[in-house]
Amino acid sequence: MISEKVAKALNEQIKLEEHSSRIYMSMAIWCEVQGYPGAAEFLYKHSDEERMHQLKIVKYLNDRGGHAKLCSLEQPALEFTSLKILFDEVLKHEVLVTNSINELVHLCMEVRDYTTLNFLQWFVEEQIEEESLVKGVIDKLNLAGEAKGGLFHIDKELASLAANT
Ligand code: FEO
Repeated sequence: MISEKVAKALNEQIKLEEHSSRIYMSMAIWCEVQGYPGAAEFLYKHSDEERMHQLKIVKYLNDRGGHAKLCSLEQPALEFTSLKILFDEVLKHEVLVTNSINELVHLCMEVRDYTTLNFLQWFVEEQIEEESLVKGVIDKLNLAGEAKGGLFHIDKELASLAANT
């Protein structure tokens, strides 16, 4: 049986993963409307992955005798200044998610919940991958600058990343 304290923290993480999914969906919509179909595909896929992260925690919490709860979420941003600024926001958000996972790990160690600690290892690994993927995209965007040709090329790369990851 999971402790109240860990259950509460997992419910907070469920909220954050759902919020992440909506943030990336909103970004994907903006990209699609602005004519970046590759970036849109990449972000739609990322949004799906966040939904999967959310579900993974929901299932775990219910399985351990807890009760996963959904709650109201804040409105995600609808407009972005540029593709580069948008991906800077993605990275900022992923760092926030990483910190939140680290806090959860810390709590599990404190209360000696080794089962949840073990469950969270998957998320620790996932955050390393996600941060490095987004950093790679930002590096490319930095190289391209605002040049139309460069952005066109990066959008194509994002389409193939979305298809192959
Ligand atoms: Fe579920 Fe991108 O963190």
